[in-house]
Amino acid sequence: MLKTFISGAVAAASLLALGAAASAQETVKIGLIVPMTGGQASTGQQINNAIKLYQQKNGDTVAGKKVEVILKDDAALPDNTKRLAQELIVNEKVNIIAGFGVTPAALAAAPLATQAKVPEIVMAAGTSIITERSPYITRTSFTLAQSSTIIGDWAAKNGIKKVATLTSDYAPGNDALAAFKEHFTAGGGSVVEEVKVPLANPDFAPFLQRMKDAKPDAIFVFVPAGQGGNFMKQYAERGLDKSGIKVIGPGDVMDDDLLNGMGDAALGAVTAHIYSAAHPSTLNKTFVADYRKAFGARPGFMAVGGWDGIHLVYEALKKTGGKADGDSLMAAMKGMKWESPRGPISIDPETRDIVQNVYIREVKKVDGELYNVEFATFEAVKDPGKTKK
Ligand code: PHB
Repeated sequence: MLKTFISGAVAAASLLALGAAASAQETVKIGLIVPMTGGQASTGQQINNAIKLYQQKNGDTVAGKKVEVILKDDAALPDNTKRLAQELIVNEKVNIIAGFGVTPAALAAAPLATQAKVPEIVMAAGTSIITERSPYITRTSFTLAQSSTIIGDWAAKNGIKKVATLTSDYAPGNDALAAFKEHFTAGGGSVVEEVKVPLANPDFAPFLQRMKDAKPDAIFVFVPAGQGGNFMKQYAERGLDKSGIKVIGPGDVMDDDLLNGMGDAALGAVTAHIYSAAHPSTLNKTFVADYRKAFGARPGFMAVGGWDGIHLVYEALKKTGGKADGDSLMAAMKGMKWESPRGPISIDPETRDIVQNVYIREVKKVDGELYNVEFATFEAVKDPGKTKK
């Protein structure tokens, strides 16, 4: 049986040799590692759905190669991610690893991507540093800094003076908080309270009760995909919607996957984000209709990260004429541009990170359903987290 821990030069050599062998195959294998169970399960389900939909619509063969997706559930636990990535690279000889529902999972796989020269396509996680951890990493999701800088500026310019923050206590929450604070305070706003909640099973009640008494103009919230529904339920139960304390933030808290179940307490929330199911392009209308038909649900931003991730693989294979070694694929992916259901996007050839529009949106009722309705667009936003270094 494969040892779950391989170290040093032996691992590097065997991973390299296997990587080379894999490139001669007729099948291109993608190891898709996502949480399908646990608190982040909705992320894995959305990504897996979107990839299935993409392959249904575009076929499973490109540039003469069959593209096979091998799904593994890591439950968003980085030890699992690392073990699964190793098994996929060594036993299954995958050409690509993809998915990564949370930042710690994406980081855990990074050294393996480097050693094996296997591209790691991050379809969900959003901390700025991820792409700097391996030259084989690229990203089709987003960074928290992309949206949080923009909502920070917007809040300061739109009459919001006092903000309390509530962020998930791990890397992307810290990125979101730092980016928001920098921009909001530079615009004259003040942060009157900062609360961090654990990633797993957070209880928002004590924070919300205090906020009801302190009455800031708004609360800035970052919780990862899957948790927004619970947050908004507690927000409504404590009557914060009635007391005029606005919800602002990156759009994760208003994930389309859950939004319509949040009830009218969500109306008026203003968030900056990269995807809305209400994005008015023809491509997105088709995407939303197809996804709904196939899965009986509305796609959220994680679905779009999966859709664009598999699209990137297909387009890279077209460009390499089916060559699927890591260096050829990485070279092909750098600088790639295409239209996503979210709008125009590209892969920055220098940083390998995604460049995309960020939209400011307000939750409104459209034909009886809640949607994030876009009202301002910031075009081709690079990750602001990179320029700091
Ligand atoms: C992350 O762990 O990087 C992450 C997860 C879910 C989000 C955003 C960021 O919605």
